[in-house]
Amino acid sequence: MAKKKAAAPSARPYRIAVIPGDGTGPEVVREGLKVLAAVAEKVGFAYETTEFDFSGARYLARGGDPTKPSIPVITEEEMATLKTFDAIFLGAVGDPKVAPGILEKGLLLRLRFELDQYINLRPVKLYPNVPCPLVGKGPKDIDFVVVRENTEGLYTGMGGVQYPGTPQEVSTQINCTTRFGAERAIRYAFDLCRRRASKKKMLTLVHKTNVLTFAGGTWFRAFEEIGKEYPDIKKDYNHVDACCMWFVKNPEYYDVIVTDNIFGDIITDLAAIIQGGLGVAAGGNLNPGGLSMFEPMGGSAPKYTGKNVINPIAAIAAVGMLLRETGNHRGDAKLVDAGNRVEEAVIATTPKMKSQAAGQMGHSTTQVGDLVAGAVRKG
Ligand code: IPM
Ligand code: MN
Repeated sequence: MAKKKAAAPSARPYRIAVIPGDGTGPEVVREGLKVLAAVAEKVGFAYETTEFDFSGARYLARGGDPTKPSIPVITEEEMATLKTFDAIFLGAVGDPKVAPGILEKGLLLRLRFELDQYINLRPVKLYPNVPCPLVGKGPKDIDFVVVRENTEGLYTGMGGVQYPGTPQEVSTQINCTTRFGAERAIRYAFDLCRRRASKKKMLTLVHKTNVLTFAGGTWFRAFEEIGKEYPDIKKDYNHVDACCMWFVKNPEYYDVIVTDNIFGDIITDLAAIIQGGLGVAAGGNLNPGGLSMFEPMGGSAPKYTGKNVINPIAAIAAVGMLLRETGNHRGDAKLVDAGNRVEEAVIATTPKMKSQAAGQMGHSTTQVGDLVAGAVRKG
């Protein structure tokens, strides 16, 4: 009797872990899932979702101390379960009742580190009819990608504080930089630059090598050496402060940027505002060989929570990224097609919105989700 063939990737349903999280997270996640359902039906792929209630509210309900980490935000068993999924869709992290750092470190950073999601991928694209704060710049000028190293640098938590609360207080926060970490981010960025449909074919390293000579040197040497393997890609370098200036003055200059964790954190918020704000900016925390997590860049927006006014476009765009990246990873063209369709539906929807700001869209959160889902069905 012939043995059963191993199932092809698309033969079983894709399993997506959904973490709505805090504040407006659940509202935007709901719209993302609405669009996911629409595109799955359109393209014809099977998936199932499992919701995880990790959040500030749950931390507090379980007796977590709001002033300092006292219990795990995610348990070991939950971590193990998460690892069995094909992708993670995250809404938002952050609760005003819980001190800063507890949920960020206990949930978001824990997942990034433990799942080795070493790339934070942030496409910066101005969609049609989205107001841009830069005078005279339009969609053809703002279309680049930031590759942020996502597991090292100032985010590792190395360092400490001595004599806190006294005049003698001393603190250190170590910028942990490894050749290994820089190298894998740089290599990913060169490869991305190569396959990206842009004529510029230029990778810009962003750092601060004139002051951070140690960490900057490691990045720069890795960039120069790896760059030799990519003769078709133009190599470019900007100091991070100058890069901020160019984002405002000449965003059309950029193609792909690679940078360390903290610089990437900062420049991608600036980048978000030139692409229309946190209501539209989506990102992926990628483990290119494993489990990746996708999220809207906006926070939990407590003041808009429960009002049906938050912009779900970023969360919907994150679903598009999730499908495209998972499709690429699994070699499933259908999923890649689905991701592209979601992006096209977003592009068809933004011109129908009055603004991308919460409460000013001319539509409610659910209506924007309906518009995108409708565009997917029509597409
Ligand atoms: C981001 C966020 C996070 C970060 C916070 C919430 C820890 O700002 O994804 O950019 O600093 O990385
Ligand atoms: Mn940030």
